Amino acid sequence: MRIVLLGAPGAGKGTQAKKLIEKYGIPQISTGDILRKAVADGTPLGKEAKSYMDKGELVPDSVVIGLVKERLSQDDCKKGFILDGFPRNTSQAETLDQVLAEMNMPLQLALSVDVDFDILMKRLTGRRTCKQCNQMYNIYFSPPKKEGVCDKCGGELYQRDDDKEETIKKRLEVYEAQTAPLIDYYEKKGILRRVNGEGDIEEIFANICKIIDELK
Ligand code: AP5
Ligand code: MG
Ligand code: ZN
Repeated sequence: MRIVLLGAPGAGKGTQAKKLIEKYGIPQISTGDILRKAVADGTPLGKEAKSYMDKGELVPDSVVIGLVKERLSQDDCKKGFILDGFPRNTSQAETLDQVLAEMNMPLQLALSVDVDFDILMKRLTGRRTCKQCNQMYNIYFSPPKKEGVCDKCGGELYQRDDDKEETIKKRLEVYEAQTAPLIDYYEKKGILRRVNGEGDIEEIFANICKIIDELK
């Protein structure tokens, strides 16, 4: 299955992608995770990306598209992939279509995870992420068993630099202006499906699996 996950910051793309990896055995390609790793490693790419990410703006297309192309060419993507956080604007979506056409592996599903804007702020300010395995928690909705420690691997939990109220506001604006139009883009291509992203994580996951299994 070749899937794009769409949804606002905090919609639960990463949370659901992690569960999809386990169930379907296909990799998650999260441009946000790739960029945060480059920032943490202090690479030239990370240094360039950080200034945009801290402001809640998009990193330039040329940078992000290169990263995704490279990742898609790896062997494990032959059995499918879950793109999370990419594409983020029409130009990225068009380039992705071209790249995948050349590789003979067109997208099969664009899944929009829909969450009301009022809920997103609380989800993002409460988010904590594992330094080691990237598992997400939420101090309000789904706290770890032991404060500050990952249930899965014992790693240390941290708060993302861009999960500050001011930066979140900017990210939500950027989403509305640049990314939300992709819902229309994929609707026109006939591969859009929508899922309600509010409520129990397991229930949302079950609904997503139903959509995927119907397409298989
Ligand atoms: P990115 O990392 O992609 O961030 P984002 O799109 O803002 O999305 P998030 O990761 O914040 O949200 P999510 O939907 O994954 O939610 P999660 O599952 O964690 O991008 C960050 C930055 O990198 C961008 O601003 C940009 O600068 C740059 N970038 C990345 N990709 C780019 C691209 N293609 N082009 C240009 N620049 C790019 O869940 C959120 C919280 O809610 C968690 O705490 C979770 O536990 C909780 N939660 C999840 N589901 C539920 C539920 N059902 N009920 C209650 N709580 C829940
Ligand atoms: Mg994410
Ligand atoms: Zn962990």
